[in-house]
Amino acid sequence: MKLPDADHAVTAAADPRFRADVLAGLAMRPRAIPARWFYDRRGSELFEEITRLPEYYPTRTETALLHDAVPEVARRTGAGRAVVEFGSGSSAKTPILLGGIDPAAYVPIDISGEFLRDSAAQLQQAFPDLPVHPVEADFLRPVTLPGAIADQPKLGFFPGSTIGNMEPYAAADLLRAMRGSLGEGAQLLIGIDRVKAEDVLVPAYDDAQGVTAAFNRNLLDRINRELEGTIPVEDFAHKAVWNDALSRIEMHLEASRDVAFTVAGETFDIAAGETIHTENSHKYGERGTRVLLRTGGWTPIGEWRDPQGWFALILAEAQPFPAAP
Ligand code: AVJ
Repeated sequence: MKLPDADHAVTAAADPRFRADVLAGLAMRPRAIPARWFYDRRGSELFEEITRLPEYYPTRTETALLHDAVPEVARRTGAGRAVVEFGSGSSAKTPILLGGIDPAAYVPIDISGEFLRDSAAQLQQAFPDLPVHPVEADFLRPVTLPGAIADQPKLGFFPGSTIGNMEPYAAADLLRAMRGSLGEGAQLLIGIDRVKAEDVLVPAYDDAQGVTAAFNRNLLDRINRELEGTIPVEDFAHKAVWNDALSRIEMHLEASRDVAFTVAGETFDIAAGETIHTENSHKYGERGTRVLLRTGGWTPIGEWRDPQGWFALILAEAQPFPAAP
């Protein structure tokens, strides 16, 4: 076996799934790279910055909604549920929920073990008497929950409109997988971003300070860093467009001139005006939201929205199988 040279020896081995997604995505037409790869350390920092931008309404709207909703959520869920959070990240919203509903346990699920342990430890400090059982897993697949919560009723928590990243068919699959993991009698509290005026949506993904542009282009920096890429990042422009037919914001990186580069030893040519599609953020209407949940096996039983109707928090319960009639 060939030994790595000194330059490469200092770099941690790149995630083989990242390498595979990038090489396949750059070769595809239209070119596309999954949005999950935005979140290296720098990308996660930039996303935190996005959540504080004046144009990015979702985080502050949902946080305010959750504060308002939590007493009623508590009445509807009852005490003693195990709260299972999907993609826990570094959520500031979790303590609002946990502090308001008298839970029996907290189970954060995240694909990134490092991130998971940090945020679980932080939560344990804030809630010293609450049993916390972190699970390192990809929640896009069915998850085996810790035996300690087997007999407790579950409350799934999926804030942030993360579900919007998925194509609707995949969103329904995910909801169904969650229903399977959480079991009969479970409830789910989910945040979903709403369809609204284009002149509100587009600036939320193309802010005046250029933070979202930096977030989008960091994906190319990450490819250069981790996959020995030679992409001329400054020759790609951030584009955010509202696709009304598909009810989603799309983010792209558009080549401003003809470019040629290599990634992991493979050569790519991109013509001026060609784009790499990097993210979808689906937005749902009032009824579309409920139909999506029911498609995934969940019946909405409570709904909260801000006065402008920009964001919705929905409490749903696992639909019993088989459903009547
Ligand atoms: C984390 C997927 C909910 O779609 O609004 C923010 C990600 N991308 N700005 C979103 C994102 C650009 C965000 N989600």
